[in-house]
Order: sequence, then structure tokens, then C-alpha cells
Amino acid sequence: MTAMLEVQGLGKRFGGLAALEGLSFAVQPGQIVGLIGPNGAGKTTAFNLISGSFAPSAGTVRFEGADITGGPPHRVVRRGLARTFQATSIYPKVSVAENVLRGALSRLHASLPNQLFGGQHTRQHLATLRAEVDEILTLLGLQAQREQAAGSLPYGLQKRLGVAIGLATKPRMLLLDEPAAGLNPEESAAFGRLLRRLRDERGLTLLLVEHHMALVMGLCEHIVVLVQGRKIAEGPPEGVRNDPAVIEAYLGAPEDCHA
Ligand SMILES: Nc1ncnc2c1ncn2[C@@H]1O[C@H](COP(=O)(O)OP(=O)(O)OP(=O)(O)O)[C@@H](O)[C@H]1O
Ligand SMILES: [Mg+2]
Repeated sequence: MTAMLEVQGLGKRFGGLAALEGLSFAVQPGQIVGLIGPNGAGKTTAFNLISGSFAPSAGTVRFEGADITGGPPHRVVRRGLARTFQATSIYPKVSVAENVLRGALSRLHASLPNQLFGGQHTRQHLATLRAEVDEILTLLGLQAQREQAAGSLPYGLQKRLGVAIGLATKPRMLLLDEPAAGLNPEESAAFGRLLRRLRDERGLTLLLVEHHMALVMGLCEHIVVLVQGRKIAEGPPEGVRNDPAVIEAYLGAPEDCHA
């Protein structure tokens, strides 16, 4: 079976700092995989390299067998690999629904004015997109907020909107950078159930960076542990949880020591 995502020997240097070194792992179709590690371990850097925001200093990224190393990001998204951001990246002044629509439009080649002011065919297309937006808002429980300015949402719902925007690009795989940050345990558990539904009902493959250990351990079938830019362990949650190196480097630290 071809892996959905295959990262090989991935590295990134920022000046003298090796933010990531020799990272290799694979994600199989339909898996939920966690990428964990303390602050500054290189998790977001790995996402930036996989999604094509940065070119790696070394290594390759393959998605569904195709070499996507170095992006660019819009091409990676069009191939079916989308991401959400650690800091929410929404248009704060426009409505929730419009934010998701912009996500849907971003997968198309034509410019926004052409989409909006084009002929009959395009108008039909826009109606289809609006129906998709509706479906995504329902799925993520954001219908009640659809006409609100995105910037006025509480932080947790802004994170949820980030996922909605990612979903609107119709990905087969989604990278989520700390989607549950700032959520209380109850919200975080609900978020975990939502992510599992995305996999179970929509067949989405997920790679998740997250500090909430209960969420990661309950949700992920496979976990990759990074410390200071290097992979120190990987495997099923039980194995990782009991790995002495992981306990020392990461799990021994208080859960909320991160920024
Ligand atoms: N654009 C950049 N320029 C210079 N250094 C960077 C850049 N991005 C990340 N770094 C550095 O690379 C290292 C890894 O950072 P990264 O953001 O990938 O960590 P992280 O695991 O996502 O941490 P956190 O849990 O705090 O989000 C850190 O030392 C960070 O300061
Ligand atoms: Mg990060």
C-alpha cells in the first residue's frame, strides 16, 4: 500500500539552528497520527515543510506517491493536503460563512471576481459551493454563528472555523496544528469526537500536533515524538506513553507548561 504521506530525512536549518533533523515517518490512508513534543521541538516547522510553506534544507515529502517537496502551498492544497494554523488564520472582519466560502474558492484556479461575476455556469458553481459551505458549518456546529464576524467568535470557535476553512478545500488529508489549544477539557473532548467523525464518516486522514495529552492518546493510532528537532520515538499510544525516553523528555513535564 502506498502511504498517504511519506516524510523522509526531512531537515530544516535556520541559520545555525537545526530546527528539524532527519525526520522520517509515514501516515497510512485513514489513519489519525499525532506529532508531539515539547515547545520548540520542531512540530510546526515539520508542518511548514510538509505543506510547502518552507523549502526543507534536506529530505523529501511525498503525498499519495507524488513528490511535493517544497510546495508551493496552493499546489499542495489542490492535491488534497490541507492544514490549519497554530495561530488562527481567518478573515476577522467577514462572516463565518464567507470565511468558509473563501476556503472553498481557494481550491479553484479562477480568481475571486471571475467566480463571483462570471456567467451562468459559474453562478451554478457558486450555488454548489454555498451548499458545501452549509454542510461544513453544520458538521462543525457553526451554523448559529454563520453571519457573525469571524473575529468576534470566542477563541475555541475560531479554531473550529480554521478547521472548517481547511475542510472547504476538500482535502483527503488534513494537518492540524494545536486545534485544541485554549479549549477546556470538555471542549477538547468534544473536539476529539469531531475529528474522529471526520475520519470515520468522511474518510479523512489526519496528522495532529497537540499538547493536550488526553486528546492525543485517546484519538491517535500512531504517535511520533519530537524533541529538539529529532524523532525520539514513534508507535501506538501505549508504547509511546511507556517509553522511558518519552517520559523523561516530555510526558514527565507538566501538561500546561507550554505557551
Ligand atoms: N521562521 C523561523 N526562523 C527562525 N527560527 C525558527 C523559525 N521557525 C521556527 N524556528 C525555531 O525552530 C525551532 C522549532 O520551532 P517550531 O515552531 O517548529 O516548534 P514547535 O514544536 O511547533 O513548538 P510549539 O509547541 O511551541 O509550537 C524553535 O527553536 C524555533 O525558535
Ligand atoms: Mg508549534
